Amino acid sequence: MKFEKHIFICTNERVQGERKSCGEAHGLHLVKAFKKLVKDHALNTSVRAQRAGCLDACEFGPSMVVDPEGVFYGSVKLEDVDEIFNEHVLNNRPVKRLVIKFREK
Ligand code: FES
Repeated sequence: MKFEKHIFICTNERVQGERKSCGEAHGLHLVKAFKKLVKDHALNTSVRAQRAGCLDACEFGPSMVVDPEGVFYGSVKLEDVDEIFNEHVLNNRPVKRLVIKFREK
């Protein structure tokens, strides 16, 4: 099935001593919050929110990506979920203040 919006939220947790990770607990809270909004808006057939492994944006974590645009968000807090959902998922307006600015390699 192809979703109109597919939200991947990093729930990766590294073992101590490795480089920074987004953290499973925080990621799972975000997943739960997005899933609830999808359900509340009855969008289950067009929007999917799910946990993901490392998105390779660890230094910006907690990280997530919204497809098909491929917009990465960083430092996402539970309080940001409503804004990302209302602005980006429902209205195709990425939340600029949270978009990760990757440096060119
Ligand atoms: S651990 Fe979350 S992006 Fe790498």
